[in-house]
Amino acid sequence: MSNNEIKNICCIGAGYVGGPTMAVIAKYCPEIQINVVDTNKERISAWNHKELSNLPVYEPGLAQIISTIRGKNLHFSCEIQKHISEADMIFISVNTPTKTKGIGAGEASDLKWVELCARQVSHYSKGHTIVVEKSTLPVRTAEVIKNILDNSVSQTKKDERIAKTFDVLSNPEFLSEGTAIRDLESPDRVLIGGDNKKAINILSKIYLSWVPKHKVLHTNIWSSELAKLTANAFLAQRISAINSIAALCETTGADVREVARAIGSDTRIGEKFLDSSPGFGGSCFKKDILNLVYLAKYFGLPQVADFWQGVVELNNWHQKRISKLIVNKLFGTLSGKKIIILGFAFKANTNDTRESAAIQICKDLMQEGAILHIHDPKVQSSQICIDLNANLIDENDQRVNSENNNVWIEVKDIYHSFIDADAIVLLTNWEEYSSINWELASTKMRRPGWIFDARSIVNQEDLANLDLNFWRVGDGSLN
Ligand code: NAD
Ligand code: UGA
Repeated sequence: MSNNEIKNICCIGAGYVGGPTMAVIAKYCPEIQINVVDTNKERISAWNHKELSNLPVYEPGLAQIISTIRGKNLHFSCEIQKHISEADMIFISVNTPTKTKGIGAGEASDLKWVELCARQVSHYSKGHTIVVEKSTLPVRTAEVIKNILDNSVSQTKKDERIAKTFDVLSNPEFLSEGTAIRDLESPDRVLIGGDNKKAINILSKIYLSWVPKHKVLHTNIWSSELAKLTANAFLAQRISAINSIAALCETTGADVREVARAIGSDTRIGEKFLDSSPGFGGSCFKKDILNLVYLAKYFGLPQVADFWQGVVELNNWHQKRISKLIVNKLFGTLSGKKIIILGFAFKANTNDTRESAAIQICKDLMQEGAILHIHDPKVQSSQICIDLNANLIDENDQRVNSENNNVWIEVKDIYHSFIDADAIVLLTNWEEYSSINWELASTKMRRPGWIFDARSIVNQEDLANLDLNFWRVGDGSLN
């Protein structure tokens, strides 16, 4: 690095965050060479695929950016050692899932990938390197990273030691999937935490290429790490809050959309993030809250832990509530019944299914003997097989029967799938589901036919003269 100018960035982790984030930095900083590296060869070759529809991450606007800068100042590679050694700045953007075993299993974040990155950086980097935590990390992780980096310096041969130095910054990412490019190009804020003003300014300068100065916030490193977990926890608790009220609406005759509008117009509450749904999904809300729960317990604050634990428990309960309700409405048995699932991604405009509410709901319905026909515009059938631990079969396959609860059928033509369907369940808010011709659907379904709308997509007026039963999340007026 010369004159405090960053010329070469390496991002470790070419996932939902690393890929889009680096694409946007590369777009606005053409003078910086950016290499996104990953151990996953398939992922890297998908990022390099000529056919842009094969990119590993689907995000509106992403393919267009990739098409203009890939091979110019944005590169995807498996040559981790080479690109770490050339970089002035390294973003760590690897996965931090919940630990599955050992101390903190089921709650704490598994930092093995982050730790491995720190070790790789400590081995291969040269000169002064700014290491940026982009992954979501438990508060005080920077201490661990710094420790690994500093220890490597003390172990390095004397002549190399002078040359190898590090700054560690926290720069959590707040993008949402489905709107990642918009969020990156016009962020509400960019958060940079650290204790070295010079390093903070160097990273800020990159963002200031397109983000207004007042939106670039500087904090100490621990506040930055904790603010990321807190932001996700606050967002998720709003969804659990509105979904808890949805259940109450259904039993009292109130309508959760009306309640949300009424409370959301109070500027202190605000109107966003009040859509009742089948429950929050996505790779982060659950894991980040559980991480917060773990930290609270670790630091001796059990009441704080219980408070946040409740947000996750409500979400789990709500998903189960929806599957139970479907079984009850269909006379207590789904055995051999044809149920169409519209939407499998955890939200619209993404191909991501991690923690999607559809997974639990579909599993429950299959367990009850339902024959599931599943549609999603972007999720690959192979992913659905993995998520449901079930086989994809043809609708004429002999294995289509209620005894076999580990098979499912892919919907290619939505209207064709409605033939003889007992129920249609809307689980993801894809735009295309809002223009379904319900009159046509009604002519094809078996009677009694049910529509279960867990996303409030269906316009109730479109069902007015159709003899279909309708349930909508949080709508007590339908009872
Ligand atoms: P991801 O699983 O899509 O991608 C992570 C990538 O890192 C994988 O491709 C994996 O192969 C790679 N990797 C792991 N260890 C590596 C190593 N040592 N060397 C090279 N590559 C390695 O994860 P993601 O969704 O991009 O999330 C990354 C981080 O960002 C997580 O901490 C997450 O909590 C956070 N985050 C995610 C989102 C989101 O919308 N997905 C938003 C904000 C923050
Ligand atoms: C969320 C946060 O919004 C991002 O700021 C954060 O960076 C990211 O997590 C992360 O750290 O991974 P994301 O999970 O991609 O982003 O998507 P959201 O739009 O937050 O939706 C999460 C879930 O909540 C989805 O299942 C969505 O359908 C659901 N949701 C959202 C509702 O049920 N109701 C709402 O009103 C809003």
